[in-house]
Amino acid sequence: MCGIVGYTGCNNATPILLEGLDTLAYRGYDSAGIAVWDGEQIVMKKEKGQLANLKAIIENEPVFGVCGIGHTRWATHGEPSYVNSHPHGDTKKQLVLVHNGIIENYLRLKNMLIDRGCEFVSDTDTEVVAQLIGSVYSGDPKAAIVEAMRFIEGSFALAILFRDDPHRIYCACKDSPMVVGFGKDGAHIASDIPALLSYTRDVTFMEDKQIAVLSPEGISFFDEFGEWIDKPVVHIDWDMDSAKKGSFEHYMIKEICEEPVAFRKTAEQYVSFREMRLKGDCFPWGDGDAQSIKRIRIIGCGTAYHAGLLGKKYLTTLAKIPVEADIASEFRYADYVFEPGEVLLLISQSGETADTIAAMRMAKQAGVRTIAVCNVIGSTIAREADEVLFTYAGPEIAVAATKSYLTQATVLFLAALRLGQLRGTVSDDEVSALLAELEGLPAKMEALIEQRGDIQYFASREFSARHVFFIGRGIDNALAMEAALKLKEVSYIHSEAYAAGELKHGTIALIEEGTLVIALMTQRHLAAKTASNMEEVRVRGANVLAVTNGRLDDIEGHCSKVWQLDETNELLSPFCAIIPMQLFAYYMAVQKGCSVDKPRNLAKSVTVE
Ligand code: G6P
Repeated sequence: MCGIVGYTGCNNATPILLEGLDTLAYRGYDSAGIAVWDGEQIVMKKEKGQLANLKAIIENEPVFGVCGIGHTRWATHGEPSYVNSHPHGDTKKQLVLVHNGIIENYLRLKNMLIDRGCEFVSDTDTEVVAQLIGSVYSGDPKAAIVEAMRFIEGSFALAILFRDDPHRIYCACKDSPMVVGFGKDGAHIASDIPALLSYTRDVTFMEDKQIAVLSPEGISFFDEFGEWIDKPVVHIDWDMDSAKKGSFEHYMIKEICEEPVAFRKTAEQYVSFREMRLKGDCFPWGDGDAQSIKRIRIIGCGTAYHAGLLGKKYLTTLAKIPVEADIASEFRYADYVFEPGEVLLLISQSGETADTIAAMRMAKQAGVRTIAVCNVIGSTIAREADEVLFTYAGPEIAVAATKSYLTQATVLFLAALRLGQLRGTVSDDEVSALLAELEGLPAKMEALIEQRGDIQYFASREFSARHVFFIGRGIDNALAMEAALKLKEVSYIHSEAYAAGELKHGTIALIEEGTLVIALMTQRHLAAKTASNMEEVRVRGANVLAVTNGRLDDIEGHCSKVWQLDETNELLSPFCAIIPMQLFAYYMAVQKGCSVDKPRNLAKSVTVE
């Protein structure tokens, strides 16, 4: 969603802001703008569309100054246009600001401000905040922010430049992320860590209703009443290169290629491969949990939810515990009554997804224990959940999640294995055997990635497909859901996942001559069943591709092509099977000339409902 950057120091702010906006572009946007203090006035430049449009304007009319803010906007209130782009100001021209989030009571506030003489120029909720702060401002920026925050309902991350105090950036947050850091040449803010990595890896995460004041000398923090507070600095060990595309054409393919390393890095945090045992201390389960946990409810959105479906299978199979998995946006309004002994397991790469945060807070309010699987240290979910199992995927820039899915599945598998060990449903020998097999997976993943030319060739023949169906049973059904999501989000091809056994209850009516059906068959005990479903669609004209790690004679004759995977334990099969699915989505999108890393209408981090 929207991105915010800001800089105040001794260098020219404009290139720093533009570079930061470039780095945040992956979040998704449809217009961009900056505001810079040029020594005399605050100069604003903004434009609809790609950042290149804004850059072209700035090239013609350069802006120099040492303090500024910038924004990429993903339209919510008001269409993408010049007037609706940020920054926005107040009628008295005392300040300009950029905003992420949604102001829920903006219409009420707008009417009140119009009565007070404010003249609005845009359709945005953001302008309401600018006018509100302007209307209570009487020379003390911090006091005006404190006062304005009392009226605002909704979510916000704000970066504000006041004309009377032009070397400082004032920031405030609620339910929308903001990170600040001090580099060697000044202070920086951004809505996401990658935009700060060029300047510092020691950062501070702002929390609800806190205010930060950035000056060339340092950063101070205040609470919602304007009282000074001390805040911890968090060291981020992601390096710059991991947030750069390097020699790859797109982030998505780079991140797929990084999966074996991300997998190994994550697994090594929880497993001692030397001793072939789980590091018991790294899991949130204590001895008492084996009996006291009665049910686990898994919550996530998009790909994280799909990883949760794998987690459900792992926990039920290995720990023999009742598990439900829900989409956060549904769960938060489901009037759900938690039962004693229930644990909420939240899955989120960014740790900032609005619906997942809401579900977590609901559970916390009900006194329910929350455990998060999260990739970003210091993010809202990582801070607020009772316990966190981190994934070590490094920064994921492409909107389509790939390595985060794989590492989430890794952590879920290991957490289930540990809980099973404690509950006595998995023996120590079984644990060691599974870990030994797990250790060998990166080599298998690498081999799959090396053979990606075959998938590219297949995509070059199939990219004009209008509909693709992914079918599977059990774990393969969960995998099919992720494969279909990947394909539709990056290639815009209509794709659906169907439990293979459900096909006959409706979807088979859509199969016609040449429809591409991809059958996932990594579960040997279900292979014969899925083979029958493949045959049912084949005889109706479908072009069937099978992805299997089983025996070919099970499927021969039922499909026109097979992608053969190495044999693995069935529970571990998703770690390899997902890679060709991600590669297939990627190459289909490349063939179609789609914007692979930033698909239309999508955002990496969905920080509003
Ligand atoms: C968006 C992203 C997806 C991601 C989902 C959940 O839809 O485009 O890639 O899976 O949000 O994000 P989270 O950060 O909570 O895992």
